[in-house]
Amino acid sequence: MSTPATAHPTKRDQAERAMRHSWFPVARSADLETPQSAVLLGERLVVFRDGSGTARVTARRCPHRGADLSQGVVNDGSIGCPYHGWEFDGADGTCTRVPSLADQSRIPSRAAIRAYPAVERFGHVWTVLEKPVVELYDPVEWRDRDLVWLAADPLDSPTGVAAAIENFRDVAHFPFVHKVSMGPTPEVVEPLEVRRDGVDVFMERRLDASSGDWAAQGDCLMSYHCSAPGFASISYHYEQAGLRVVAGFPSPVSYEQVRIFWGVANERDFKGDSLEECLRVEEMVYLEDMPVVEHLQPREVPWDAEVPEFSVPADLFTLNYRRAFGELMNRTERLLAGEHTPARN
Ligand code: FES
Ligand SMILES: [Fe+2]
Repeated sequence: MSTPATAHPTKRDQAERAMRHSWFPVARSADLETPQSAVLLGERLVVFRDGSGTARVTARRCPHRGADLSQGVVNDGSIGCPYHGWEFDGADGTCTRVPSLADQSRIPSRAAIRAYPAVERFGHVWTVLEKPVVELYDPVEWRDRDLVWLAADPLDSPTGVAAAIENFRDVAHFPFVHKVSMGPTPEVVEPLEVRRDGVDVFMERRLDASSGDWAAQGDCLMSYHCSAPGFASISYHYEQAGLRVVAGFPSPVSYEQVRIFWGVANERDFKGDSLEECLRVEEMVYLEDMPVVEHLQPREVPWDAEVPEFSVPADLFTLNYRRAFGELMNRTERLLAGEHTPARN
């Protein structure tokens, strides 16, 4: 259930509500050979692939005696409990079998679990807890591209979704946090040209081959795209090699704890480094961020101005992302008031 709208909700309340109405990844597609456990905003979930190959997301607690369904097995369209074998349909959560009953027509009619939407995209399984306020991310810059994805090992960080996204796309920290992976990079940030369109924020930067290893595949145009609440990507358009992509999808285990699902993708005929090599380099970058980001105070963007913060022009992308998140909060409040239909922009 959504947090009930109070007369004067804080921005934090609104952010939490907006996330319950937003899509987040809860598992990697490649891991679904066995049922996977996940937690999204405190909800304990199981993610599995049913007998027909369709990804499913349901509540993880068995309503018989509380066993953990992620320890269970898949039988055709259902997940079977590891304790007494009750089975639940992955599409709608109804109990389809109670092995101890001689007469299956006597299954308790209300013995069901909650089933959530499940969509596979970018190498991950995505779900949403409540009616979505915006559609699942479908970046316009990738729509006519044949991208091959490689999902990375997820990273856990004691930060909120917005703080994690802001780190992913911040450009002023490179010379301090990424000295090793990126080599020397300029401290002064050029005037950023940032464009916001609803819940999406875009920016382009040029990278020239003289920037060292980081641009080993020649000159490129970097297209940054964030979308509130939890999507951040860079598309590297190399003049010779083609398109490669890195994207991060922090998923809120709770308000102040994320599991960062992320991955890289290359266009199918990309002429540069392999996907595995791209992942190795990007992981080195991420692992440099983690020790800094996990000590941010507060752990999430201070939506209610509970601490002072000061911004400079290098923060323009971040500030626009905050506006995008604010737009998402407004849309969620309107949705809850019954006035809105989902749209990405
Ligand atoms: S606890 Fe799940 S079947 Fe008994
Ligand atoms: Fe970083």
